[in-house]
Amino acid sequence: MLISLIVAVAKNGVIGNNNDLVWKLRDDMQFFASTTRGHAIITGRKNYESIPERFRPLKDRTNIVVTRNRAYVAPGAVVVHSLEAALEAAASSGEEEVFIIGGGQIYAECLKSGRVDRQYVTHVDAEPNGDTFFPLEGLGSWRVETLMQQESNDRNEHAFVVSRYDRL
Ligand SMILES: NC(=O)c1ccc[n+]([C@@H]2O[C@H](COP(=O)([O-])OP(=O)(O)OC[C@H]3O[C@@H](n4cnc5c(N)ncnc54)[C@H](OP(=O)(O)O)[C@@H]3O)[C@@H](O)[C@H]2O)c1
Repeated sequence: MLISLIVAVAKNGVIGNNNDLVWKLRDDMQFFASTTRGHAIITGRKNYESIPERFRPLKDRTNIVVTRNRAYVAPGAVVVHSLEAALEAAASSGEEEVFIIGGGQIYAECLKSGRVDRQYVTHVDAEPNGDTFFPLEGLGSWRVETLMQQESNDRNEHAFVVSRYDRL
């Protein structure tokens, strides 16, 4: 099973603030939806709760929520208590490419574990204030391919470039 991560990150490393996103990028949301549709996704409990209730679990995907809280319930989602258990749940369902969808803690722990094979990174041309970050500095040693370039317009608050990074 390929272990992929998908993230949108500002030039200053910010990915979120007050448990919410810091921009409206409809075409990036569409990229996220079409890339992850049909796959298992792994999310931290905080990121999961930041998704508006009417949209969760994210449809057409196996939603795996990671929490240390043994009493946690998320109807329609699989709840696990470690990253390892999340990866096992995805693998045992026959998944070929699982997506780590954040947030900051989960990204950091997955990258630290050395188990991530691929990263889909939306580089957002902005430097917002925020309280949650992604370690951009680690990307230098991965093979990169540009997948999409988007100017800012009425659907997208900022310009952005989507790149795919594969472990060398
Ligand atoms: N720009 C983007 O692409 C993007 C994507 C996703 C999220 N975000 C942003 O990121 C922010 C949320 O990120 P965050 O870092 O605050 O939280 P998070 O990573 O979504 O969730 C953290 C929670 O996950 C659980 N957890 C973490 N490590 C664990 C482990 N090893 N074992 C078991 N459970 C574990 C804990 O839940 P319990 O406390 O329940 O134990 C922890 O409090 C929001 O602002 C969101 O909008 C941005």
